[in-house]
Amino acid sequence: LKFPYEFIGEILITQEQIQQRVADLGEQITQDYQHSDKLLLLGLLRGSVMFMTDLMRHIRRPMTMDFMLVSSYAGTESSGFVRIDADHKTNIYGWDVILIDDIVDTGYTLYTVRKLLLERQPRSLKICALLDKKARHKVDIHIDYLGFEIPDYFVVGYGLDIDEKGRNLPYIASVDLEKYKKLYPPDEGKK
Ligand code: PRP
Ligand code: MG
Repeated sequence: LKFPYEFIGEILITQEQIQQRVADLGEQITQDYQHSDKLLLLGLLRGSVMFMTDLMRHIRRPMTMDFMLVSSYAGTESSGFVRIDADHKTNIYGWDVILIDDIVDTGYTLYTVRKLLLERQPRSLKICALLDKKARHKVDIHIDYLGFEIPDYFVVGYGLDIDEKGRNLPYIASVDLEKYKKLYPPDEGKK
């Protein structure tokens, strides 16, 4: 396996562009929450991990962090069913929660998790996502803090994967799906 991955198409958002935008979002959050003494960044694993750790470096306020492990089914087309594999540890009652994810595709993941968290009565709940594929939304979802809107390409890097590959790239790149299929032919025998 070579690095960078051979199935990379083109770089859509460079490392510098991401770092600049993430710094801006951190600055904005710092200002918006300057009167909050209970700020919690809640990241959705695994996709949000690189974004979350970079973002928190730019939040110049006391804060805490927590995570949930969730997965959306199934294959490439989301079915709208979201599974909670591991819940957060913090009691979020009365907290100002910012839900962090790498990308909004159909929107089902953030829609479902948001609904669940609201039942737990945080003081406030906002959504922050690095990427938004607006054309793909299937539910109404408001993103309070957004990095970039992107077209409907299959993208990897900065936490995003294709079959778990590509998450460690420091930029966002498109996937050359023809190359990908040659490198990793779909297993016809399975399922
Ligand atoms: C991906 C991505 C988002 C979600 C977006 O996560 O990280 O969390 O899908 O899709 P949606 O808007 O259609 O729900 P995935 O469930 O693939 O797991 P991962 O974060 O571990 O990659
Ligand atoms: Mg995810």
